[in-house]
Amino acid sequence: MADKHDDPTPNAGESLVTAEPLDASGPAAEAGDRPHDGEGTPTPSHRRRWLMWAAIGLVALVVFLLVLPVFSTLHPNYYRRYPGLGERMDNWAHSTHSKVGCSGCHVDPGARGFLTFAARSIPAFYSQLFQGASSTNLLRAPDREACQKCHTTYRTVAPSGDLRIPHRAHVVVLGMECKTCHKNLVHSPNRRGFNRPEMEDCLTCHDGDTASNECSDCHTDKAAPENHAQKNWPEIHGQMAEKIDCAKCHDWTPDYCENCHKQRPASHTATWKTDHASHAKTRGKGCLVCHDEEFCKECH
Ligand code: HEC
Ligand code: HEC
Ligand code: HEC
Ligand code: HEC
Ligand code: HEC
Ligand code: HEC
Ligand code: HEC
Ligand code: HEC
Ligand code: HEC
Repeated sequence: MADKHDDPTPNAGESLVTAEPLDASGPAAEAGDRPHDGEGTPTPSHRRRWLMWAAIGLVALVVFLLVLPVFSTLHPNYYRRYPGLGERMDNWAHSTHSKVGCSGCHVDPGARGFLTFAARSIPAFYSQLFQGASSTNLLRAPDREACQKCHTTYRTVAPSGDLRIPHRAHVVVLGMECKTCHKNLVHSPNRRGFNRPEMEDCLTCHDGDTASNECSDCHTDKAAPENHAQKNWPEIHGQMAEKIDCAKCHDWTPDYCENCHKQRPASHTATWKTDHASHAKTRGKGCLVCHDEEFCKECH
């Protein structure tokens, strides 16, 4: 009876069904009698439900806006709209790692790796939306931890057998990243059309100062060709240059030929100034490897 008096709504007494839930005053109370509520004006329960759906909608939107970047930036098609990047994704599709998804390399292992990736990809995605893709908002080159999910560092020779490449020495001892050498692994071929590291990459350190640069330190079967061992090689190498592709080995060292040609050759003895006539007659063209015609004209 007390219920009836306390209830302020006019239709409170309508049924005993309402009395019970109101008494309980829990969430169940809201469920019971909505159809009988006053016309037009939303009740508190009505509003609460609306708010709840609005909140759910908002949360869903936020989740969507957060998840969208994470998935998009890890999808090859996403990059097709940007000049040049589509081609880099096609290279991936034809690479040895075509079966390794983007996250395989671009997300570090573990939950922490994923969160770090998410934290980076979200601002990157929205900045791309407004400013386009730039080198600062693209995926970063993978860390070695990502590669080490699948590869060890125990490798010491290239599959060809020709090349010594102690991985532990460089990765563990020197702390190098895989990408420093394997920068053409997936998204681009190197200058020579392969995905392998190039000798140039090594020579930045292996310059004879920081690290050794003897051919035999790295190559097991790229010794100088036999003709180099001939006694008269210094004299005949110029003629051989017309028959053999010297650049195959020597273009790795810039100015290899030119630097040596700046040295005064043994043929230029003390009396060369007046002796050179006979040489010049037989090997006239050879002189021009080191001299230009202007030089000769100074006296002739
Ligand atoms: C096997 C490892 C590997 C896989 C798999 C891989 N990448 Fe990469 N990615 C790299 C490396 C290494 C670099 C840095 C060197 C470079 O730019 O080529 C890189 C660079 C990038 C860059 C920066 C490119 C630039 O021009 O600065 C983007 C974007 C990228 N990857 C997207 C992707 C997407 C999308 C996928 C999946 C389709 C993918 N990657 C799969 C290794 C990988
Ligand atoms: C999800 C596993 C996985 C990840 C991550 C991965 N690789 Fe590989 N990688 C492979 C597999 C599998 C092969 C062998 C493919 C074959 O032989 O056909 C391979 C082959 C290679 C090769 C030899 C083939 C070639 O194209 O030269 C190199 C080098 C290599 N991976 C380096 C890397 C580097 C560097 C990274 C990190 C940027 C990396 N991999 C990340 C699985 C992986
Ligand atoms: C100092 C440069 C350098 C670094 C750093 C380096 N590599 Fe290599 N790696 C090479 C070279 C050079 C080869 C031989 C490539 C060839 O001739 O096929 C090679 C070969 C490989 C191969 C075998 C290739 C094949 O065809 O089977 C794998 C796999 C590989 N590296 C993975 C890695 C991973 C993973 C890392 C990082 C943990 C790494 N490398 C770091 C230079 C490097
Ligand atoms: C970041 C600098 C750096 C780069 C890049 C680098 N190395 Fe090295 N490497 C070193 C250092 C330092 C040593 C140890 C000193 C030495 O032996 O001269 C070394 C040692 C070596 C050794 C052992 C030499 C010996 O005396 O037994 C080989 C082989 C080698 N590197 C091959 C390579 C190859 C192949 C590449 C390119 C794919 C390369 N390195 C790229 C720094 C580098
Ligand atoms: C620090 C290591 C290192 C040193 C020192 C080095 N190379 Fe290389 N060389 C490489 C790497 C790495 C490659 C690329 C590997 C590949 O193509 O498989 C290469 C590739 C080559 C190639 C082209 C590959 C081919 O078979 O056509 C030639 C030629 C060559 N080297 C000659 C030399 C000569 C000559 C010297 C001495 C003047 C030398 N290299 C010293 C690491 C080295
Ligand atoms: C060790 C030093 C040295 C290097 C390295 C060198 N040259 Fe020479 N080159 C000489 C000398 C010395 C002569 C002069 C020979 C003479 O007067 O008998 C010469 C002469 C020549 C001539 C003229 C030959 C003639 O008929 O008179 C040619 C062509 C030539 N070199 C090409 C090359 C090329 C190409 C390279 C690089 C692949 C090269 N040289 C590297 C020392 C060198
Ligand atoms: C297969 C690789 C290869 C080819 C091809 C090659 N060379 Fe060499 N050459 C070498 C190597 C290795 C050395 C040793 C130099 C060093 O250790 O830096 C060398 C050294 C030389 C030297 C210096 C010799 C000295 O006494 O210092 C000359 C000159 C030379 N080469 C000229 C040529 C000429 C000219 C050609 C083309 C006709 C040629 N090379 C082709 C690998 C090659
Ligand atoms: C390997 C490179 C090289 C070749 C090949 C070469 N010269 Fe020279 N020549 C030099 C150098 C270096 C000097 C010294 C230049 C200087 O001191 O400014 C020189 C100086 C000279 C001089 C100046 C006189 C002197 O004693 O200083 C004459 C003349 C000359 N060369 C003529 C020739 C003739 C003729 C030939 C061909 C038969 C020839 N050179 C081939 C490198 C070369
Ligand atoms: C420093 C001055 C000087 C330079 C530079 C010089 N020559 Fe001569 N050259 C002479 C003299 C002096 C003679 C005469 C020597 C003699 O008495 O036979 C001569 C003689 C010659 C002869 C023979 C003359 C003839 O008409 O029979 C030839 C060929 C020749 N030089 C070629 C060259 C060439 C090629 C060069 C450039 C690479 C060159 N000279 C640079 C001073 C020079």
